[in-house]
Amino acid sequence: MLILGIETSCDETSAAVVEETAVERPWAIRSNVIASQIPIHREWGGVVPELASRQHIRDICGVVDRALGDARATWGDLGAIAVTQGPGLVGSLLVGVAFAKASAAAAGLPLVAVHHLAGHIESLVLQNGELPLPAVVLVVSGGHTSLYLVPQPGEYRLLSRTRDDAAGEAYDKVAKLLGLGYPGGPVIDRLAGRGNDRAVALPTTRLTHADRNAPTLKGDLDFSFSGLKTAVLRYVRKKGTGVIFPGGPRGLPPEGQGENDSRPLFTDNEIADICASFQRVVVTALLDRLFDAARRYQAKSIGIAGGVSANSRLRAELQEHGRLREIPTFLPSLALSTDNAAMIAAAGLRKFRAGLIAPADLNADASLAL
Ligand code: KG4
Ligand code: ZN
Repeated sequence: MLILGIETSCDETSAAVVEETAVERPWAIRSNVIASQIPIHREWGGVVPELASRQHIRDICGVVDRALGDARATWGDLGAIAVTQGPGLVGSLLVGVAFAKASAAAAGLPLVAVHHLAGHIESLVLQNGELPLPAVVLVVSGGHTSLYLVPQPGEYRLLSRTRDDAAGEAYDKVAKLLGLGYPGGPVIDRLAGRGNDRAVALPTTRLTHADRNAPTLKGDLDFSFSGLKTAVLRYVRKKGTGVIFPGGPRGLPPEGQGENDSRPLFTDNEIADICASFQRVVVTALLDRLFDAARRYQAKSIGIAGGVSANSRLRAELQEHGRLREIPTFLPSLALSTDNAAMIAAAGLRKFRAGLIAPADLNADASLAL
């Protein structure tokens, strides 16, 4: 069977055709088309929701046509349509949900509503085949840092999450204050490779108290990244005695100083040191909690998915820690790390096989829980 997946939760318009197969892996990607809006939002230093939803409207028809064409499939070949219902930007989600509902009705196909994070988790299965269960999976992106236990296929139990910024959000904010542009993850990752990761002393946050906002969770596996971001900001303000390039900022000027000097605040090497030190703290925080959870829940495998799973240090250290502790670890390919519709189609196929079909009055839900 073929399923069409549609993803419009943030700043990527994506459509994919995924096939159910019985051999080796449960699903095979027939096409996965992604129209990224990054160049549009870069100018503003982050995603502008109104621009995002307008661009989804412009792109959705062409992206779906292309996904069907690449898969050499027609509407008549499909068995179902899966769409991201939430969480995400409501205006963006609505474009995908409205398109999926209308095409399901027109083509007489069943509709499946998918949680965006279930899609990220299933990207691991799409890439690697079924994981040894129970698995602990960390979904780490621009909007989420959430740790799940997967006791059996299609069941996702939330163990912990960030209390403030998501890890990807911290990357984006630190990149912004260093004048490195949007999105921050890839550029910090690249510069960190040249820096000394012990050059700047930055705090690690370890939460032990219960979270009043999530009484059902224990809290000691929770994440927090806003303190780290603030520590980088303080370091930059305190250390910087010069001011930034007018045409190419390399850092924030100290409070009260203007931007019209021509001396860079930091050298390229210093910027690389800040990036490397920041990245070391983020990766350590993520992996410590992840392996703690694996031990506590006697996991048979560990996975990391979501945009930040593209990070080179996180990927390398996950595999290294897994080898040392003799537990298999899994990652999506780089293309399946960031938002894409193939993962939504895969999660949709799982729900479809469990008989979970969406009603015709399905609505987008910006803060849908998983
Ligand atoms: O999953 P995703 O495409 O969208 C969300 O659902 O948020 O993740 C995007 C996030 C951005 O914050 C971006 O900075 C981060 O993933 N990211 C990275 C890397 N590549 C993307 N973070 C760290 N290292 C990377 N190589
Ligand atoms: Zn995502």
